[in-house]
Amino acid sequence: MIVSAALLTLGAAAIHFVVAPPHFREYLPFGAFFVAIACAQVIAAVELLARPTRRLALFMCFSSVGLIALWFASRTVGLPIGPQPWTPEEVGLTDVICNLLEMLSVVLFALIALRPPRRRRRHLWRIALGSVPAGLLISGMTASALAAELTPMTESYNAAPYRSGGVSVADLTETRGSEHVDRFTLVAQVSQIDGQAMWTYNGTIPGPELRVSQGDRVEVTLINKLPESTTVHWHGVRIPNAEDGVAGLTQDAVQPGQSYVYSFVADEAGTFWYHSHQQTEAQLPRGLFGALVVEPASGRVAEDRDYVVLLHGGPGHVVINGARGELHLDAQAGQTVRLRVINAVAPGMDGGPETPVLVGADARVAALDGRDLNQPQPLPATRISLGMGQRADLVFGMPPTGSVQLQLAEAHGESSFVSNAFTLFSRDQPPSAHVTVGDGPAPSVPDLMATPLFDLTSYGIASGSAPTSFDVERQIVLGSHAAFREGRPQLVHTLNGQASPDTQPLDVSEGDVVHLQIVNDTDEYHPMHLHGHVFRVLARNGEPVSGSPVELDSVLVGPRETWDVAFVADNPGIWMFHCHVLLHAGMGMMMTINYHGVYTPFEMGTRSGNMPE
Ligand code: C2O
Ligand code: CU
Repeated sequence: MIVSAALLTLGAAAIHFVVAPPHFREYLPFGAFFVAIACAQVIAAVELLARPTRRLALFMCFSSVGLIALWFASRTVGLPIGPQPWTPEEVGLTDVICNLLEMLSVVLFALIALRPPRRRRRHLWRIALGSVPAGLLISGMTASALAAELTPMTESYNAAPYRSGGVSVADLTETRGSEHVDRFTLVAQVSQIDGQAMWTYNGTIPGPELRVSQGDRVEVTLINKLPESTTVHWHGVRIPNAEDGVAGLTQDAVQPGQSYVYSFVADEAGTFWYHSHQQTEAQLPRGLFGALVVEPASGRVAEDRDYVVLLHGGPGHVVINGARGELHLDAQAGQTVRLRVINAVAPGMDGGPETPVLVGADARVAALDGRDLNQPQPLPATRISLGMGQRADLVFGMPPTGSVQLQLAEAHGESSFVSNAFTLFSRDQPPSAHVTVGDGPAPSVPDLMATPLFDLTSYGIASGSAPTSFDVERQIVLGSHAAFREGRPQLVHTLNGQASPDTQPLDVSEGDVVHLQIVNDTDEYHPMHLHGHVFRVLARNGEPVSGSPVELDSVLVGPRETWDVAFVADNPGIWMFHCHVLLHAGMGMMMTINYHGVYTPFEMGTRSGNMPE
């Protein structure tokens, strides 16, 4: 018992030693306090082992209670002194473990104090052996606390620091010309949706559908009425770097009460979306996203009906345009319909895609990620895999009678342990919604999981040729391993073995043709998204694309797959390249593409408060 109590005290002392330096930096007396406590604990533990007395045990018992009380106060009401008096500090893994050790020691000290050690001498080896389990437990706890403390949140990180000369990302804008301007206001605010406090743009989830014509200038004023800072990112739109909305890379996050104007020309028609890119992992699923549709300059969309179908919510309980259950869309017999399907569903740890299937009419996959495919042929019911962030435009004609449905094919019982656990805890979630287009009898729905999977490498008709010579070639291996990161144990997600912010940027010069070979060394899906550019898909698992050219801003790299993609570096800036599974990006799967001669004045980390993942 005495040995265990001493070990517990030594464990706490070790933690106190390790946390002292950051406290010194924060506030000198705090640092000194931690060193003093650590020294006192070491002395007391040694003293206890050498000359255990009831007095000493009693003293240790009370002083530990005092320390625990102090910690408790600092985490609840805050301390009266320090850099920020009376503001509670955040609870971390390290301090929880430290206090657990101390709480256990309090109990042991009390027991020792109440029942003085027996006089009969026990053999030293028996004492040693008896303390092995406790020793292992205590050193395990101490080690994880130390690991957590030694892998802190990044304090400040600049993805492309200033080096004499060069242009700042903030200056990479597009000067106004004579183009037509479409003005929108997005108010980021807390709103009650279905009795829950959600974060919304203009009070709805999804946010308002922004529709503009190709060639228009889009001018969006973001007004932040949230309790935290935020940004807006224009997913898939090739815009000047300064308008990209990435906190800590292209701007500082917009503080509560502040506003910010985004302005860019929508050069390309297609289906895009927008979402927060500050604390994305937390803010996007809370409701901060919406659709952005750029209609072709040649006038209206060719189809009679043109709808956005935005999938959101979680896997297995997908919500469509805010509707649970059925979303009804109007269309008459014989009309043509375009469904712009956007996947904003936050997947579980496996990162799995959504797989919508159109039933009741043969549909053409007219566009992927907003870019048209060449001569797409109509397909009977087919599952179209959409990774988080990806889009597909489905075009079809309404049958003479009856309605058409968009259903989600969902595998049951095949999902990973994590998503199973997720489903378990998200109690009473209704099943996923579906879309019904038109009126009349519903089409007969086949076994969705038995329908063929859409293969983008052999769809439509080839045209032109893909680039074959490259200025920059890089292999990017997607990996994951368990480790401590940012103060907690994580399934760290890596690019070439490194997690952000330690990932190597890809340096390019304007005009470079870049070849990326993305190798997935995990059993998860990774929709790898590049800002500001489009990928031309070259091959999947070594099989070249034989059908229509495919251009994507997010490539869904399935478990153990290899994809070859190319892009032209024609949009100077510092651009994010990351997995769009927000969990994975949050655990490190992020890097940047850095143009020579461009720097960013913005920084990420706890100091600036810019946290783009
Ligand atoms: Cu849709 Cu970097 O994001
Ligand atoms: Cu991923």
